[in-house]
Amino acid sequence: MIKLRIPATSANLGAGFDALGLALSYYNYVNIEESDGCHISSSDGAEIPTDESNLIYRTAKTVYEICGRPFRGLTVEQTNNIPMARGLGSSSACITAGLTGANMLMGNPLSLDELVDLSAQIEGHPDNTAPALLGGIVTAVFDGKKVHWVKQEVFTTLKFIAVIPDFELKTEKARACLPKEIPHSDAVYNLSRAALFSTSLLTGKYENLRTAVDDKLHQPYRLKLIPNAEDIFDIAYTNGAYGAYISGAGPAIMTIVDSQNCFFAGKMRFALDNMGLHGWEVREMHIDNEGTCPIN
Ligand code: HSE
Repeated sequence: MIKLRIPATSANLGAGFDALGLALSYYNYVNIEESDGCHISSSDGAEIPTDESNLIYRTAKTVYEICGRPFRGLTVEQTNNIPMARGLGSSSACITAGLTGANMLMGNPLSLDELVDLSAQIEGHPDNTAPALLGGIVTAVFDGKKVHWVKQEVFTTLKFIAVIPDFELKTEKARACLPKEIPHSDAVYNLSRAALFSTSLLTGKYENLRTAVDDKLHQPYRLKLIPNAEDIFDIAYTNGAYGAYISGAGPAIMTIVDSQNCFFAGKMRFALDNMGLHGWEVREMHIDNEGTCPIN
């Protein structure tokens, strides 16, 4: 039996659309072993597909097929803490679990690079899958087949405080609202900020983050799909956040906060309640530098 811990992820980081992502200390757990047939259970009562359509199962089966190994079936036990369709990488966590679990069960025939490539081929973009596998902050270019990536560990006391609504937003819907073409000036606006984000995070120049998370490729369009998001940005900055951006495709809003800003989460909760937004959860996390790893 292989036991895995898989981190949540936050993709895009504002301007780095489909290119930047980082792993966070909020985890799913998956136990996986070979068996006859498909046996899937959820240890926390979360509603998950328990047949062969299950994303972890499907992904693992694909890996066996790619490696030309006989596939009998799997027993999969999931603990799904990462909420689904909120912009925190729940699908990537399942894909990563299936890939890593199957690879380990077969004695690791695939390299880490091959796992990163496969995860992006399955998901379509690398900015959640690569950090889920690798941890840290990952810069990735997916050329349709291969991911060209760099993982950097981040040593910071910064808090990543997610404000997570009680409604879902499917990635397909959040991508469908984006324009097919953008002005050249918008591209420049974003690429300069995406580069600024990772360099500022890694060198501790946190005062740049507010500028770095601004973008013209996706957030202005997606804000319309997330009621109250603009108010949440306002209260985050009023309470001293370095940066606030739509996490992945949304609808969660991620805020980046100094460790000395002790009461930020409490102030956010108070403000949300005052606005009647009781369904939004405030959850504190840190950067995870390990990525998907086996546990005892
Ligand atoms: N970069 C992706 C998007 C992340 O924003 O659509 C979601 O998988």
